[in-house]
Amino acid sequence: MIGDEEEILCESEVTCVGQIICGIVADSQEHAKMAASAVKITYEDLEPVVLTLEDAIQHKSFYGHRKLEKGNIDAAFEGVDQQLEGQIHIGGQEHFYMETQSVLVIPKGEDGEIEMVCSTQHPAFSQRVVAESLGVPSNRVTVRVKRIGGAFGGKVLKTSIIAAITAVAAHKTGRAVRCVLERGEDMLITGGRHPFLGRYKVGYMTDGRIIAVEVTCYCNGGNTLDHTLSVLEEVLLNLDSGYHLPHLRLTGFACRTNLPSNTAFRAFGQPQAIVITESWITDVATKCGLSAEKVREMNLYRGEKSCTPYKQTFDSRNLLRCWDECLKTASYRNRKIAIEEFNKLNRWKKRGISVVPLKKSMGFSVPFLNQAGALIHVYQDGSVLLTHGGTEMGQGLHTKIIQIASHELKIPMSSIHLNETSTGTVPNTSPTAASVSTDLNGMAVKAACQTLLQRLEPFMHDNPKGTWNDWVKEAFMKKVSLSATGYFKGEDLFMDWEKGEGTVGSYMTFGVACSEVEIDCLTGDHKNIRTDIVMDAGSSLNPAVDIGQIEGAFAQGLGLFTMEELKYSPKGVLYTRGPAQYKVPAVCDIPEQLNVSLLSGSRNPKAIHSSKGLGEPAVLAGCSVFYAIKDAIAAARKETGLTGTFTLNSPSTPDRVRMACVDQFTKMVPVSEPESIPWAILV
Ligand code: MTE
Ligand code: MOS
Repeated sequence: MIGDEEEILCESEVTCVGQIICGIVADSQEHAKMAASAVKITYEDLEPVVLTLEDAIQHKSFYGHRKLEKGNIDAAFEGVDQQLEGQIHIGGQEHFYMETQSVLVIPKGEDGEIEMVCSTQHPAFSQRVVAESLGVPSNRVTVRVKRIGGAFGGKVLKTSIIAAITAVAAHKTGRAVRCVLERGEDMLITGGRHPFLGRYKVGYMTDGRIIAVEVTCYCNGGNTLDHTLSVLEEVLLNLDSGYHLPHLRLTGFACRTNLPSNTAFRAFGQPQAIVITESWITDVATKCGLSAEKVREMNLYRGEKSCTPYKQTFDSRNLLRCWDECLKTASYRNRKIAIEEFNKLNRWKKRGISVVPLKKSMGFSVPFLNQAGALIHVYQDGSVLLTHGGTEMGQGLHTKIIQIASHELKIPMSSIHLNETSTGTVPNTSPTAASVSTDLNGMAVKAACQTLLQRLEPFMHDNPKGTWNDWVKEAFMKKVSLSATGYFKGEDLFMDWEKGEGTVGSYMTFGVACSEVEIDCLTGDHKNIRTDIVMDAGSSLNPAVDIGQIEGAFAQGLGLFTMEELKYSPKGVLYTRGPAQYKVPAVCDIPEQLNVSLLSGSRNPKAIHSSKGLGEPAVLAGCSVFYAIKDAIAAARKETGLTGTFTLNSPSTPDRVRMACVDQFTKMVPVSEPESIPWAILV
């Protein structure tokens, strides 16, 4: 597997509540449930139980750590005007895909053949895990994916565990077995986004220039490694966010805890990185008496040859273009004045605004994942059946791929069909992840199209007035193969942690988001008034799909930073196991005005048809809502004379917002006794 070996069924030591011990096969779901409730297990308590990041730090319970340095941080701290320290905790997030983890395994009754219909982003991995579990070669296991009812990173690795258990059941009974997790089980068992704690020390000049930044962060990986180290790496690689920071020391620890194992989640660590960075940016602005937007703008990356902390150069000019365009379309300056007016006139309602730069490096920093395959058949009637290594989960990948094939073959999209993804047609595929599936599979499809066109070329030449169907028919009669594979070998991306150097992405996707909110200082509730997002999507293959992805990712980010909160008991039992306890954004949480636009005139020579990957980056845009809330809280605190920096942990739920708006009422809330056991803990 990626990372550690993972136990599929626990053999001896249960290390979290929600670990799978056994599976029960029955002739109906009801019977299976009755049997499951009859299973009695006696446990002995583990010592010590490590649940929170604080626990992990205390017990040095780490999977590993990473470090990244740039410049000369110690000398830099000597030369700065001022320093500040602070920290922020970011809670996890549940994927909450509409379709829970689901798999159907059909034993074929011959030669150990197994057919599996699986809701997975990574068919090749599920195939491998199932083959290994059954002790059969991979050529006996075919995994098919028609479409996934949402995945968001939660169906890259985790699905294979459910698939392996189901496959064993099917193999043992010789009958088809289906396993579909109920929402509560899915929430309990399959983990989610990694909670993070970021502690920082920043050296800056009184005019707002940032000189030196030291961040130590900890992430809650849960009881197995899964993607935890990669997520931690992604956080370190993105703690610069959109800013040029001359001196840096970034350290990260991946914590092993007794919680269900966390995994990939849309934008893979970058949301945690941006919220840490923007926390100290806001603190610096407060200390300097400047607006946060001024400090951000002053420290933005600029120019054609910008350089990341890992010494990869990139062209950041489009980031600045997004910034200027977003401020303009959002009428930022006028609205900021109007907000100040509103706040002068209202004591118990406050408004806030925030504009935040977004940057995401695109590509798998693991070299071998940057490859893809495609297979195209042309039938005698001219219709085309197309398949490639990627899976469709609502992100519009298949639509874009058909567009690419249609463009290359110069035939209408309606002549091309894509029926499913299968390990039987395109083998050894990478997961549909990291937002680069169009980049990779699109190139493979293009290659397959070019092979076909080369074969058809003589017939086009002989009959220039003919149609696609004429050429196809002629080729068939002349015994020319009408089936072609395509393969794409992507860039050799890598990160050398020893040297602190790497080329971790092929290019950057940029954006800027500006949000305005209104908080109710007495209840802590808030209203999302308006958000403007400008994204650099290169030359978009399909603006409707891309804008849909930006809106969806933004809503998911808004949920992460302002509403969605996983609650654990002091013994590590997840309380929040459904929409009644766990609040995902609803219609009323979408800003009354939501304007998404794509930066015009952007080109990207690094990806298919000059496009850019866009499935994840806009999650980061949700952070503009969080910092708009923080801005509104700051206005409320001014009323009681509090003008300094303050901590606001993510998500900014009503209770946190309420308590941060310190006033005569919050002072009446009794402080809990130090030895009292809380209802829920911060993990
Ligand atoms: N959009 C929908 N509707 N459903 C999803 O599950 N997953 C996201 C994003 N957009 C997702 C989605 C995640 S986590 C990734 S990595 C990308 O889609 C993957 O697809 P892509 O590479 O085609 O962008
Ligand atoms: Mo997306 S988290 O890369 O599946």
